[in-house]
Amino acid sequence: MRRRSQLIAWKVAGRVSDRHTSADEVVRETGWVFNNATGDHLTLADFVATGDEEVPAYLEAFGLRGPDNHQKTMIEIGSGIGRMTAAFTREFGDVIAADLDIGFLERCHETVSRFGRADHLRTLEVADGRSLALADDSVNFAFSYLTLQHCAQGDALNLAREAVRVTRSGGQIALNFRGPSRLDPLLLPLGIVVRNAFRLPRIGEWLSQRRSITRLAWQVSRISPSQVLASLDGSIDGVTIWSGGPVDDLQGAFRRGRFDGINQNHWWITATVV
Ligand SMILES: C[S@@+](CC[C@H](N)C(=O)[O-])C[C@H]1O[C@@H](n2cnc3c(N)ncnc32)[C@H](O)[C@@H]1O
Repeated sequence: MRRRSQLIAWKVAGRVSDRHTSADEVVRETGWVFNNATGDHLTLADFVATGDEEVPAYLEAFGLRGPDNHQKTMIEIGSGIGRMTAAFTREFGDVIAADLDIGFLERCHETVSRFGRADHLRTLEVADGRSLALADDSVNFAFSYLTLQHCAQGDALNLAREAVRVTRSGGQIALNFRGPSRLDPLLLPLGIVVRNAFRLPRIGEWLSQRRSITRLAWQVSRISPSQVLASLDGSIDGVTIWSGGPVDDLQGAFRRGRFDGINQNHWWITATVV
């Protein structure tokens, strides 16, 4: 099978993180891949501190924080090296960190061992970038942040369906997407050009470690709430679409939530699995 170009940047970052012996070095070299922070003095502790702030903020905003969370199982789709996973393992009794890259998952385990609860952690490789090797009804909560926007549209919609499939009836999903914007006619074609350049021997690897170039390569898909709702039709209830500003195609019988911390181009869906 031809390697899908939207996966290359992550695989390269995974190899780079594998080569470093210190976790602080990994954060300095590849931390920008996860939350855009750069700096010669960044440490794993600084990096995890951003997740420690964001996890309770999102859970509280979405009404998903509760005393019984420590009895629940959750999956984080696109965990990376554990920026948010450490906080999730303090909140939930059983956390499945799922990612495309096995090197990131090893680092995630390390991060959680230092800053979270490794005894609450399992990892899961998303080998094909679109399906979860888990039985139906395995978790109470499925979460994904800054990940589905980097997947091809078909893969992102499939992962959303997978999130619902692995979540028990009555459980919750909270999934983050990037919606269409005015710059897309420029950004999306540039993304294709850069991703194709990633296939070039040697040059590709070099390119995919350059921050501004890789940010272009990340411009893979834009997905609107109506596409996700159509794809999950009949399998979810109590839908809320959250945004930090207006979302274009918001029509239908669901609630709208406003959360000022959300990037203007992003939106979230929260829902209960039926
Ligand atoms: C921008 S990082 C976000 C990581 C984490 N959610 C955070 O906020 O720190 C995106 C992560 O998604 C993973 N990823 C990208 N495409 C994926 C796919 N198709 N399936 C699973 N993981 C994927 C990447 O390997 C990377 O770790």
